[in-house]
Amino acid sequence: MENVVVLENVSKVYGIKSKTALPAAEPSRKERHFRSHRRDENAQSVRALRDISFAIKRGEYVSITGPSGSGKTTCMNMIGCLDRPSGGLVLINGQSTVEMDEQALAVLRNRTIGFVFQQYHLLPSMTVLENVTLPLRYLGMEKGRRRERAMEVLERVSLADKARRYPNELSGGQKQRAAIARAVATNPTIVLADEPTGALDSGSGALVLDMFADINQSGTTVILVTHDSAAAAQARRRINIIDGVIDSDIRSGDATGRERGPDGERHD
Ligand SMILES: Nc1ncnc2c1ncn2[C@@H]1O[C@H](COP(=O)(O)OP(=O)(O)OP(=O)(O)O)[C@@H](O)[C@H]1O
Ligand SMILES: [Mg+2]
Repeated sequence: MENVVVLENVSKVYGIKSKTALPAAEPSRKERHFRSHRRDENAQSVRALRDISFAIKRGEYVSITGPSGSGKTTCMNMIGCLDRPSGGLVLINGQSTVEMDEQALAVLRNRTIGFVFQQYHLLPSMTVLENVTLPLRYLGMEKGRRRERAMEVLERVSLADKARRYPNELSGGQKQRAAIARAVATNPTIVLADEPTGALDSGSGALVLDMFADINQSGTTVILVTHDSAAAAQARRRINIIDGVIDSDIRSGDATGRERGPDGERHD
């Protein structure tokens, strides 16, 4: 299977111009001691990702875990092309994103990636149906077909009866299901979710996780950013990030795992 996401030596430093490539410095032993939230005194910058590399194949179900501030959302923003790396390469479906301008990135995101966020990010002034049809409009799909497709995905998340409602008339779990319907409506290659169960009770959270499993079953690559171990356990591959570096990258059924030691070296 081909790689749908490749990160090559990606680093991210906040507080500097995003296009300035910094050398991905290896943290010294002392630096590593000051875990996340460490600030570079001189530059007033935060090194959120340090030279990370991995590839995700079509159809994988990957969780990205790690403590608060370890760089999970930053990593998701790199994968989703919502932000640019300070150094390194991001390839989506084999296409390097480095040279793309904002418009090209927007087209790539719309065609390839469905996003789900902890706070749903539904547009409050639009009905559930209108929210779900919006990315289809950007795709240039014809009106009748948009409606048909939106109802199809709303059925799939058991929300067809709420199609004419506004987001503020829905429960948290229902809002997240509407957001999932919007994410899958365009039939993206990748569904990328950042803490999708973070604001939900355990019952609604479990239902949402079932939906991701279902989406993955149908062949879509699912990447789930979470610090919820139950959510992470569902993924067949778990990438753990600590202090902006990959601490471990383990596949279920992978007897040896591919743990990295404190020196950042891989110990197979
Ligand atoms: N826009 C920003 N400007 C400056 N620093 C930032 C910005 N976004 C994140 N950071 C810093 O980068 C580091 C990684 O943040 P990130 O949001 O990726 O962590 P996270 O693992 O998603 O944490 P959480 O589990 O709390 O969501 C943190 O030290 C954070 O303070
Ligand atoms: Mg986060």
